Amino acid sequence: MDKKELKKIVGDVRKQNSIFSDKSYLDNLSTPESIIGRESESKKLVKFLLSFEKGLVVPLISVYGRSGSGKSTIVQFVCKNLDVDFCYTNLRKAKTVFGCINLILSELGHQNLKNAQGINTAFTILEELIMQSLDKSGNSLFVLCLDEFDTLFYDKRGKPSDFVYKLLVLVEKLRTLKKYLCIVTVSNKVLSEFNLDDRVVSRVGASEIYFDSYSQNDVLKIIRNRAKKSFSQKIDDHVLNYCAEISSSEHGDARRAIDLLRTSGELAGLENKEISRQHVDDAIAQLQKNQITTMISGGSYHFKLACAALARLTFVNDEGWHSTSELFKQYQKIIPPDSRQISYRRFSEMLVELVNSGIAVSQTISKGRHGYGSQFKLTVDPDLIGNSCFPDWWPSVVESKKKKESAAIASKQLKSLYSGRRRSSRFGSLYRNLGF
Ligand SMILES: Nc1ncnc2c1ncn2[C@@H]1O[C@H](COP(=O)(O)OP(=O)(O)OP(=O)(O)O)[C@@H](O)[C@H]1O
Ligand SMILES: [Mg+2]
Repeated sequence: MDKKELKKIVGDVRKQNSIFSDKSYLDNLSTPESIIGRESESKKLVKFLLSFEKGLVVPLISVYGRSGSGKSTIVQFVCKNLDVDFCYTNLRKAKTVFGCINLILSELGHQNLKNAQGINTAFTILEELIMQSLDKSGNSLFVLCLDEFDTLFYDKRGKPSDFVYKLLVLVEKLRTLKKYLCIVTVSNKVLSEFNLDDRVVSRVGASEIYFDSYSQNDVLKIIRNRAKKSFSQKIDDHVLNYCAEISSSEHGDARRAIDLLRTSGELAGLENKEISRQHVDDAIAQLQKNQITTMISGGSYHFKLACAALARLTFVNDEGWHSTSELFKQYQKIIPPDSRQISYRRFSEMLVELVNSGIAVSQTISKGRHGYGSQFKLTVDPDLIGNSCFPDWWPSVVESKKKKESAAIASKQLKSLYSGRRRSSRFGSLYRNLGF
């Protein structure tokens, strides 16, 4: 490539990007400047947080609900705009309970502690940091937001319930010093679904805020607002409505709706055209492809084999539904001979995982005297699954199907040729008999 060619590439990219005026409004990682809707959830949160002003301290608020329903966004927006000190920590990066407390401390500007220093030292430092922060700001309330709270419970040996108990003890201790601490947990699950011991349960109360998935109208308002700020031209309201309709019918997830709008814009930009419904359809296909590829690449070897078994059966037989036993036979057929097989039972669990991940759907059918059985059907193109699972193997499946199909066509042609000849020879004798 020479300079001239690079200049052309730069020019093309700028032209494609000219559809956007400020793409940061379509970035899901940043917190928006303003919130659309969610008044009642924000009101509840403010009410719980400020109840300390009238002498009642809510020690723990459980914010829970669907993915992409605005939990993290609203919690941060409210805390940033109240006269309170707050520390927002996403626990996803931590692998252990001790890792969680280290993340909180580092968010407050403290260096990481070593495991050997112990959790009690970590809590003493946390108390000091909270006190320092409140003394400096003159505020009375410190809000500790723990996003992706589930992470804490992945550490089976680290006593997550004990960690929450220690936080609640800290809340009580600070209260005696006329300083207030409130813990906000954010998760897809409600607090009662976690394995917390009685000491914790009896102290937390029932301060819960549920975030339902967004309706079509909510999604439309959110993406209309983003479209106005991020595109250089006005986007047709029919297109935005179409985006909202698809997003709300599938998941009601604002994050995915914003992704859909951005990808549709990028595809329209490539063609230097305005966004149309066709671009939205193409964007859905592209996002689905990305999502499936990421999900499969993160799955275990046997999960990939289960996907591949369903993809192969669907592709080869051009058929939808397949029973667990058919799929297990297919799995046994494609697994390399030197690999250890999983049991039938584990395989059926893997098929359920497949349904949970949205790659397949299942149905229960009656087998008469033999009771009931499950059947599975792929929801996406088998070619996409096959290529994502085993890109070196899948072309051989495609090739062998092609060969079988052309062999079937050839045999059909041969048959019709043969029966044609017989017919013409029959007619020949008839004609001869009639004296022609
Ligand atoms: N009410 C809203 N107004 C404006 N933007 C919103 C609103 N709700 C969500 N968003 C946007 O949607 C995206 C996803 O929101 P958020 O991360 O808050 O969801 P979540 O409920 O925390 O999801 P998860 O459970 O997956 O963590 C963010 O980019 C956010 O900016
Ligand atoms: Mg979140």
